[in-house]
Amino acid sequence: MQKNEILEASSTIQAKLSSTPTIGLILGSGLGVLAESIENPVTISYKDIPHFPESTVSGHKGQLVVGTLEGKQVIAMQGRFHYYEGYTMQQVTFPVRVMKQLGIDSIIVTNAAGGINKSYNPGDLMLITDHINNMGDNPLLGPNDEDLGVRFPDMSQVYDKAYIQHAADCAEELGLAVQKGVYVGNTGPVYETPAEINMLRTLGGDAVGMSTVPEVTVARHAGLRVLGISCISNMAAGILDQPLTHDEVMETTEKVKEDFLKFIKKIIHTLPK
Ligand code: 6GU
Repeated sequence: MQKNEILEASSTIQAKLSSTPTIGLILGSGLGVLAESIENPVTISYKDIPHFPESTVSGHKGQLVVGTLEGKQVIAMQGRFHYYEGYTMQQVTFPVRVMKQLGIDSIIVTNAAGGINKSYNPGDLMLITDHINNMGDNPLLGPNDEDLGVRFPDMSQVYDKAYIQHAADCAEELGLAVQKGVYVGNTGPVYETPAEINMLRTLGGDAVGMSTVPEVTVARHAGLRVLGISCISNMAAGILDQPLTHDEVMETTEKVKEDFLKFIKKIIHTLPK
């Protein structure tokens, strides 16, 4: 049932492409600018792809950009779908299925997240080593299509160890300090209360956001290798004596944009096979 929709979407995209993408990129809040570095870009608006939902948050563009980045064939989502927008988990993760169908074997997922770990600072980049699905939902609920993946996917190593090491090496070469930590996926759209942030810290979370967990869950179901990077855009509630705003999230991602771009490009340039 979803398979037909995946094939319809992927063949619509395929018809506009002259080469096969190997790396998928999901670009989070304020980070979509990376797609502007893609050479010989083929740009496809989500509204022109059958079965794709449309993006509603400011700071998100809503298009696929396919082309060459650092010598690699990439397909980038400039803007993603969030659960809090009212989409189902299946809708949120549909583009991952489509990118897999188009030929990618790895995916780099980025987001803006609030820092839970008190040693973090706004503007830090964090390599995601693991996650906690705190969304109370899962995109794989329901009948399983064995063509897409197994019924009970292993989640013991979601974020590819070799990719984490590679990214850490790239950061060191660039002189960028990066953190490693556990990402908690919450539904939003509210930011958390201080009590909730204390709870999430006790549970082992280092950063919290409103995305990534659904897409990465489906990516692993599909057998994709995953790299996840959070931009710590602000400290989560109760750590600093100040309210949280989406403007702060956008301001911080704007500030670290240049480092972030350099970092991702270097990672892609030499991404191990
Ligand atoms: Cl503090 N919480 C959540 N859920 N998402 C965020 C955030 C915080 N900061 C940026 N995104």
